Amino acid sequence: MANESPQKQDQWDRIGEAIFDGIYKLILISINGFKELFNYPAARIFHFITVMLGITVLLVKTCWHVKLFYYIFENDFGAYVHNIIIGKNEGEHLINLLIIEFFLVTFSLGIIAISRKNKWKQFFESCNLKNGQGTYPALVSIVKDGDYKTSYLFKGNGVGLDRFRSSQDSFESLLMKNISKIENGKDPSIIKVITNTKVLSSHLGYSGVSNKMPLKNYEFYLGDTIDGLRKTNLSKLPHLVIAGTTGGGKSSFFKQTLVGLLNSSNHLQMYLIDLKGGLEFSDFKKSPNAKIVKSMEGAVTILELICAEMSKRFNYLERHGYKSIIPKRDKLDRIVVAVDEASVLYANRDKNSFDYELSLQAREMTDRIAKLGRAAGIHLILATQKVSKETISTSIQENISARMCFKMNTLQGSLALLGDKSAMDLPAIAGRGIWMHGNESFTVQAPYIEDSEIKDQCESIEVDLHSKMLGNVQKHEQKSKLAKVLTDGEIHHD
Ligand SMILES: Nc1ncnc2c1ncn2[C@@H]1O[C@H](COP(=O)(O)OP(=O)(O)O)[C@@H](O)[C@H]1O
Ligand SMILES: [Mg+2]
Repeated sequence: MANESPQKQDQWDRIGEAIFDGIYKLILISINGFKELFNYPAARIFHFITVMLGITVLLVKTCWHVKLFYYIFENDFGAYVHNIIIGKNEGEHLINLLIIEFFLVTFSLGIIAISRKNKWKQFFESCNLKNGQGTYPALVSIVKDGDYKTSYLFKGNGVGLDRFRSSQDSFESLLMKNISKIENGKDPSIIKVITNTKVLSSHLGYSGVSNKMPLKNYEFYLGDTIDGLRKTNLSKLPHLVIAGTTGGGKSSFFKQTLVGLLNSSNHLQMYLIDLKGGLEFSDFKKSPNAKIVKSMEGAVTILELICAEMSKRFNYLERHGYKSIIPKRDKLDRIVVAVDEASVLYANRDKNSFDYELSLQAREMTDRIAKLGRAAGIHLILATQKVSKETISTSIQENISARMCFKMNTLQGSLALLGDKSAMDLPAIAGRGIWMHGNESFTVQAPYIEDSEIKDQCESIEVDLHSKMLGNVQKHEQKSKLAKVLTDGEIHHD
């Protein structure tokens, strides 16, 4: 080498540099691949290592790879490499093979990670998602959570959540999956794009749900969602509107909600107003803590009794300096007022109509319960086709924040209830609805309960009420302005 020309020397230097550079890049790729390993669940990695170890031991014992190696490199180079790999004994052979495999695996993972990073870079370029300095967000990791959910974690690099959200369609077409949520990670510089491939089934039996997820105090089921079965607690809502076009599943949801609540606690009183006069709710009569009212007069009477009870409870709270009723501490039952086809009760009527006064009173008292019921442990559940100021007054609407909305046929209907058109976009599947409470909103497939199940459940309910059910009509008659109209069993006792 000493008598080589300077050009040749230069050439050798460059070759040396290129080899060094190449090795450096290989190592970098492998380091990337090694980091990638942490994105996989530990169980999967353990499984992979076990299989690889098995294969490696087999290779050491059979030397199949050596035979293959000789077949390919029938020369000194083959023998040289072969001697290095085989080592002095089987132990060295095994370790050498494991090192080579580890390098091959991390290198392959590294290549995958780099090509993915490039794909995302091109994607952000095409969406023009960059910060003021022209830097794009970068993929940090992909985490699989269960069978359906995958979270893509990005470092925002100055690109905020809103801008990610406005590119949701582009993300979906790139990933070819529906995005269920785009949110900030625990570290606010991280943005999480969550996909979910779960498809909700069009039928969900109540008994299946209740076997999997028992209810505790004042809870009821919402149904199956892409994140699994969901239930909620009435005491936290504290009132609920169920809406949707006829046939969407309101009454069925209403019934399963009532059954769930009646079963969830033995300190609950339920007053069910059903002005359609059918037999739809007759099975609830079997429950010792439910009372059914079928007429306008009966409805107004029961609302008056409940408002009186509410005033009594407020006096009690004031006397004790408490903020709200806690049934266990105060020995008071939670009260649920449930109205199916609520618009029949509240709709504006002609001034000359017989029910005009009754409807006004019903509105006024419901309004009070909606405003004050929370502290008194009194809850409203209203089912109605649509929510408008003609059917349910704005004041009542404002005080009911929880909504279960089944399919709506009109944009106004969906807007009035959810503030967007999502209820209109729902598929025509009975029991498919959108749950909304606070800033939480998701699609559900509601549980369906057969009438025979309602009957069985209501018959087997055990109660331990703190006080007698309201509705002692005789006693109330003297006070009620409506006493005359009420006499003929408008309130049905069990
Ligand atoms: N969660 C559900 N799952 C499956 N089918 C349902 C569900 N809810 C309702 N249905 C079907 O749709 C029909 C109408 O439901 P219903 O609750 O009476 O609607 P609405 O009260 O909105 O008019 C029911 O008789 C039932 O066959
Ligand atoms: Mg109905």
